[in-house]
Amino acid sequence: MGPGEGRKETLVEAAIRILNTPDPFEKARLGDSVATQWLHGLILDPYDPSADLPVPDRPARLADVKLVSPSLMPKLGKAGSLQSRQAIVHSLVHTESWAIDLSWDIIARFGKQEEMPRDFFTDFVKVAQDEGRHFTLLAARLEELNSRYGAFPAHDGLWDSATATSKDLLARLAIEHCVHEARGLDVLPTTISRFKNGGDNETADLLERVVYPEEITHCAAGVKWFKYLCTRSKSLGSASNGGGADEEIVQKFHSVVRKHFRGPLKPPFNAEAREAAGFGPQWYEPLAFKL
Ligand SMILES: [Fe+2]
Ligand SMILES: [Fe+2]
Repeated sequence: MGPGEGRKETLVEAAIRILNTPDPFEKARLGDSVATQWLHGLILDPYDPSADLPVPDRPARLADVKLVSPSLMPKLGKAGSLQSRQAIVHSLVHTESWAIDLSWDIIARFGKQEEMPRDFFTDFVKVAQDEGRHFTLLAARLEELNSRYGAFPAHDGLWDSATATSKDLLARLAIEHCVHEARGLDVLPTTISRFKNGGDNETADLLERVVYPEEITHCAAGVKWFKYLCTRSKSLGSASNGGGADEEIVQKFHSVVRKHFRGPLKPPFNAEAREAAGFGPQWYEPLAFKL
């Protein structure tokens, strides 16, 4: 049953509709509209408890972006030439397009299955809306730079790790929403400086004023819900054992990342932005070394 056929669409139904939308511009527009409806109380139910809806293994995508293996990606350069600026913005646009799908996927795949509270849905709806805005603004900027989404090859490493964590919400939160989002925070300041040095202040401004501060909140959502799941499953976190519980959560994070992420995390880390996301060095420093 679709919207307007006797009952309101649930958020999970809307999320699946967005995942099944191939055109990324349409995906972003639809996502923005669904997010606005959810945040204004126009979509009431996160899901129908009696319905097990199929979530696509791979979200619908247009075939006009040529995919290559991550190791075969051409070098992006340092934003010193127009071609390098186009290539960097293109790779950011591609990442944002996956970030949209990842946000709706975590809602659709795990929200009902793990009986997550309403705030979980709201947090990832906000992330999805941000990612859609990032995609749309960066894709528009790419056109101002005389290129377009699909003009360069891209890789799907982000979806490979989504597939590898599709059965386990703790792993999904740790790998996609803590490790990858935080890696974005580590590298963005360098990318911003390169655009400034290359004389492209418009792209630098967009990344610095819009994308960067919002990415901090995405990493924060990953950390928040990772902690929530650990606390819920072990009934940890009472006032009396808060310190020990925190340590246990961090150890759990280390074991999940070591199991699901290949190789050590790559320093240098952006400690300030990570701290702002509630992600102190005890979470990631020990993972910078291979055991
Ligand atoms: Fe983003
Ligand atoms: Fe993000």
